[in-house]
Amino acid sequence: MVSPILQVKSLTKAYETTYGELLVVDNINFSVMPGEFVCIVGPSGSGKTTLLQMLGGLLTPTEGAVLLAGQPLVAPPQEISMVFQKPNLMPWRTVLDNVTLPLQIQGVPRQEANEKGQRILQLVGLSEFAQAHPRELSGGMEQRVAVARALVQQPRILLLDEPFGALDALTRERLNREILHLWRTQKLTAIMVTHNIHEAVLLADRVLVLSPRPAVIAADFQIDLPRPRPQGIEYRESFGALAYQIRQAIRE
Ligand SMILES: Nc1ncnc2c1ncn2[C@@H]1O[C@H](COP(=O)(O)OP(=O)(O)OP(=O)(O)O)[C@@H](O)[C@H]1O
Ligand SMILES: [Mg+2]
Repeated sequence: MVSPILQVKSLTKAYETTYGELLVVDNINFSVMPGEFVCIVGPSGSGKTTLLQMLGGLLTPTEGAVLLAGQPLVAPPQEISMVFQKPNLMPWRTVLDNVTLPLQIQGVPRQEANEKGQRILQLVGLSEFAQAHPRELSGGMEQRVAVARALVQQPRILLLDEPFGALDALTRERLNREILHLWRTQKLTAIMVTHNIHEAVLLADRVLVLSPRPAVIAADFQIDLPRPRPQGIEYRESFGALAYQIRQAIRE
């Protein structure tokens, strides 16, 4: 029997703010199986980023725990990488040096890091730009570099926080297809926050809907659509019906 790669148990987060305690995530429970693609949707300010940061070990829960392959997360583990809403590249570093940064921090020898970096850049179609600087890239390319940087340490789990939200619809569509390709070929487990319901249905095996703050899981939809997703699947009735149900489950 396959066991979950990630287990979220009674996860709760309250921020201490200048205006008192703010309960943001309220006793959330769910599991993710290896290789699953989960999308998280919910209203703005509901606690999606807060939840994702706890899944990545970047934020300590107030109560409850996240288990990675059965073991509690204490610090950000190498098996989990995160892609943020903004690319957060270092402007003075080349593309390759941005991508290899996590390896350099771990003390991986330069040549080995560069070889790995080049390989990942090839995967995201940016080999030609290894020596370019971030200012010489388009927004979509910068976000691809951020994805490459997340993949360079060969994580098992990729967390994505609205990674393509700031990009135009066509670029976003192309990058989503690239993410699906990477997920499949690199055998990743993916958890992606998005505002876009169509994107969620197109990408995910499962869509979790968060309630308004404090976040609880309001609904959990299984997306039983064929893989790889056929061209034009967005225009099928079954796709539209799922998107509509998810839309209905989101309260604002
Ligand atoms: N570091 C922090 N300190 C205090 N409050 C915070 C902090 N980070 C987030 N919050 C509060 O927690 C709530 C949820 O924020 P979060 O960023 O998790 O929401 P979100 O669902 O990701 O929103 P969006 O869709 O707009 O990105 C908000 O009310 C926000 O003000
Ligand atoms: Mg957010």
